[in-house]
Amino acid sequence: MKVVVTGGAGYVGSHALAELKSAGHEPVVFDDLSEGHAEATGESGLVRVDLADEARVFKALCESRAEAVMHFAASASVGESVEEPQKYYFNNVVNTLRLLRAMRSAGIERFVFSSSCTVYGIPQRTPITEDFPLAPMSPYGRTKAAVEGILEDYASAYGLRYASLRYFNAAGAMPDGSLGEDHEPETHLIPLVIRAALGLRERISIYGTDYPTPDGTCIRDYIHVLDIARAHVLALEALADRQSMTYNLGIGQGHSVKEVIEEARRVTGRDIPVEEGPRRPGDPPALVSSPQKIKAELGWEARLASLRQIIETAWRWHSTHPQGFASKG
Ligand SMILES: NC(=O)c1ccc[n+]([C@@H]2O[C@H](COP(=O)([O-])OP(=O)(O)OC[C@H]3O[C@@H](n4cnc5c(N)ncnc54)[C@H](O)[C@@H]3O)[C@@H](O)[C@H]2O)c1
Repeated sequence: MKVVVTGGAGYVGSHALAELKSAGHEPVVFDDLSEGHAEATGESGLVRVDLADEARVFKALCESRAEAVMHFAASASVGESVEEPQKYYFNNVVNTLRLLRAMRSAGIERFVFSSSCTVYGIPQRTPITEDFPLAPMSPYGRTKAAVEGILEDYASAYGLRYASLRYFNAAGAMPDGSLGEDHEPETHLIPLVIRAALGLRERISIYGTDYPTPDGTCIRDYIHVLDIARAHVLALEALADRQSMTYNLGIGQGHSVKEVIEEARRVTGRDIPVEEGPRRPGDPPALVSSPQKIKAELGWEARLASLRQIIETAWRWHSTHPQGFASKG
């Protein structure tokens, strides 16, 4: 099947291209390269387009002859969204509406959406199941919850079939070291820890050591980016004969900040200096998913489930590409 992949030059989208191809699909990337890297798209066709340009998006959708869209393109930093909410509402909500309108005009009815565990805010308990109330605490989380609501309305009014996948913490890289995370600035823990191991930053900051968790640091559910990518392909295929769906995408097991740093020390064999500081406002103590629904309904299982595998693959990528995609040149 031909599939348009918005944001396919970004971290998660580029790994999805590989999974789509190995399942026999033909991805075409729509990306403005504002954050992504053309090198990450490999042999897939790349249409350089800003989703704000609805007329061009519509034309490119028609030319692609795609039957479905995977929508990764978004602005994706919680911290930045607090500073610049307007950027987030326009890029994540308004541009998604433009994309959905262009898809309706082009007669495309299948849609896989990158949602996020930030829609849950600070949950009362863990593990989190999909029926927990949505209570996002940041503009970023609110944009994801808003799009989920829009998708529900489009499904009942216009027959859109969608999958909303609420990822927990995407991490890891292509096991052969050919593809990985390259964000500037980087805000995710595992690449930051690895940069410290490589001496590319002085130390890693731990924000809060007095949380009600066993070692006092925040607990998150790290899921390998290829396991996320495979869930996208399973959801896409299920939409052929199933109604819309919303799933958590996590491993169902949490690791604390200190555990991640310890495991990274073991994997890299390097010293990783740390600095302990105060909590950051709005950081939930623990976010751990229940992945039971997607396991039961789509038969999804994590294949690279251990923290060690996640960090090993990330280490392979970052140690061979210390400057990300620019390393090659
Ligand atoms: N990385 C995570 O841990 C995580 C967790 C939960 C949800 N998500 C969601 O998954 C998706 C992908 O995340 P990522 O980490 O790969 O982000 P990323 O920044 O690496 O990739 C996003 C891509 O979208 C492109 N893009 C952004 N705005 C665009 C526009 N207006 N027009 C065209 N292209 C545009 C960027 O150039 C980039 O290539 C995002 O929707 C994000 O919110 C990510």
